[in-house]
Amino acid sequence: MSIVLVTGTSTDVGKTVVTAALASVALGSGRSVAVLKPAQTGVGVGEPGDLAEVDRLTGGGATLVELARYPDPLAPDVAARRSGLPSPTLADVVAAATDLDVGHDLTLIEGAGGLLVRLGAEGFTLRDVATALSAPVVLVVASGLGTLNHTALTVEALRMSAVRCAGLVIGSWPRHPELADYTNRDELASVSGVPVRGAVPAGAGLLGAGEFKAIADIAVNDLVEYLPV
Ligand SMILES: Nc1ncnc2c1ncn2[C@@H]1O[C@H](COP(=O)(O)OP(=O)(O)OP(=O)(O)O)[C@@H](O)[C@H]1O
Ligand SMILES: [Mg+2]
Repeated sequence: MSIVLVTGTSTDVGKTVVTAALASVALGSGRSVAVLKPAQTGVGVGEPGDLAEVDRLTGGGATLVELARYPDPLAPDVAARRSGLPSPTLADVVAAATDLDVGHDLTLIEGAGGLLVRLGAEGFTLRDVATALSAPVVLVVASGLGTLNHTALTVEALRMSAVRCAGLVIGSWPRHPELADYTNRDELASVSGVPVRGAVPAGAGLLGAGEFKAIADIAVNDLVEYLPV
């Protein structure tokens, strides 16, 4: 099985950009890639969501599957209740991931927000998905103030459920790093027990697919070695 879940310490830390970087590197080495987004919030029908961003940054080529989308920019279970639209169950997400895994060398699953955000029916979370699939998680983190606590909390929550964390990736490494960024980059591994295995430079998410691939090869290449592909 080659399934990897991408979670973050919070929303907006760069999960989509890191998912695209992993997909780009894998596609570039000739592997087939699928990206599953169990629940997309904050976008309406026909609008571009996270998978459209992955498609743009990778230049196409990955299989993209979104199970549900809701217009309100809220946690998926709340947005689902407000919209009256159906929510996926844990079994739906596991079945979709398992199906994609059969036909692809690497299947990436991007959560919504942080690890314990409720994704759908019965309040299951990305941690439950990782547990059900026995798949590792990549944790996308920030580099600025506050990240040491958020990262330690998330890794502790993964450990409580015996979910393997394949590595931390800084989602957006600033162009002009400050003291907190430099020191956090060194401290993240010691406070969490998980090494930093990648850092995507700020601005990379704005590039076209060709330049993004070149950056991704450097930014997440160390991490790829630790993924089950
Ligand atoms: N390295 C980067 N370069 C350029 N832009 C970035 C980078 N990382 C993040 N961003 C930008 O920051 C915003 C949030 O990033 P992203 O969408 O990847 O976060 P996310 O963790 O996937 O958020 P969500 O919880 O909404 O899925 C986006 O507008 C994205 O383009
Ligand atoms: Mg995202």
